[in-house]
Amino acid sequence: MATTSEPTPEFALAPYKERENDTLSERINEIRGVWGNRLVILGHHYQQDEVIIHSDLRGDSLRLSQLAADSRACRAIVFCGVHFMAETADILANRPDKLAERRGERVSVILPDMAAGCSMADMAQIDQVESAWEELGDWIDTKKLIPVTYINSTAALKAFCGRHQGIVCTSSNAERVLRWAFDQGERVFFFPDQHLGRNTAISMGIDPTQMPVWNPYADEAGGNTPDALRNSRVLLWKGHCSVHQMFTAAHVAQFREKFPDIKILVHPECPREVFEMADVSGSTAKIIDVVRQAPAGTQWAIGTELHLVNRLRQEHPEQEIHFLSPVVCMCATMYRIDLAHLCWSLENLNAATPVGKIEVDPEIATESLVALDRMLALS
Ligand code: 13P
Ligand code: SF4
Repeated sequence: MATTSEPTPEFALAPYKERENDTLSERINEIRGVWGNRLVILGHHYQQDEVIIHSDLRGDSLRLSQLAADSRACRAIVFCGVHFMAETADILANRPDKLAERRGERVSVILPDMAAGCSMADMAQIDQVESAWEELGDWIDTKKLIPVTYINSTAALKAFCGRHQGIVCTSSNAERVLRWAFDQGERVFFFPDQHLGRNTAISMGIDPTQMPVWNPYADEAGGNTPDALRNSRVLLWKGHCSVHQMFTAAHVAQFREKFPDIKILVHPECPREVFEMADVSGSTAKIIDVVRQAPAGTQWAIGTELHLVNRLRQEHPEQEIHFLSPVVCMCATMYRIDLAHLCWSLENLNAATPVGKIEVDPEIATESLVALDRMLALS
């Protein structure tokens, strides 16, 4: 469980909400100037433009977790992302070897708005996971079941994976991680995103009929028959991303009909039928690379978060970029981090009354690190 310790803030949020963006940006730059390389602002690709321009480093979940682990001079990370990302940054930046290098001095990890959570991560609560594991023991040998959690999960779930010979994955390395998991055991329990788990396992040639979905709200056996569980290769947790779940096969078909040469490019958090109809799929970093490397004049319909697609459209006027859905699909929780929250959190950090401080419980951090290190060793 993550804990927060927040002394009474020197500065209240309300006045920052009233300020113009230029004024906020000016103050953000002043504070960054004072801190120099002791402060690192990290930004996920889905972050809105006015915020991301202030990030020192931007990336997908894997890259951001590696960057957090590599910080040397840094003493504070302000994470313009969501809660699980800040937890991961805290675990990696304050791991024992890094702490020893800094003679015990912790890196403060700040999430500018504590309400910036992830609905997918919230779909796999640790008590639900623990009771599912115990119940599964009635039908299969859980010693040969390897838990794999997407990085988009709570630190408590990562710790569970650390305790049970499991591992963390991201959308960039899910296939490599699943191969590792199958070297360790007979079958995998994949949390919390059923789509990433299913899409990756199908790409590896695993039979979709061997991927039952575990519904934590079902009365018994996660809503499955004992035979389905015994026959499984990958058990999928019933979780999804509310943003990527919005893209449908009908959207793909409409684009193909209107633009016969269009390339469909999607994130693997999209449902199976969308993933299967796409020309290319990959993490946010891969989506950016694929567009960068395409010849001018390429037509794209991209199925991932709106801010990233809009940014790609601005950065690549030589290409024709469409958003795959007619409705707005944006990460509403990440969007909570606006310039006002960023400026307000920096101001309080600067005044030594940090707000939005993320400090993972030490035992959870130690066990999570085991699962994260297994993944980082494969990267
Ligand atoms: P990646 O950045 O790993 O592609 O993940 C997308 C996402 O949903 C982040 O929350
Ligand atoms: Fe979570 Fe989806 Fe937002 Fe990513 S895009 S943080 S998975 S809700």
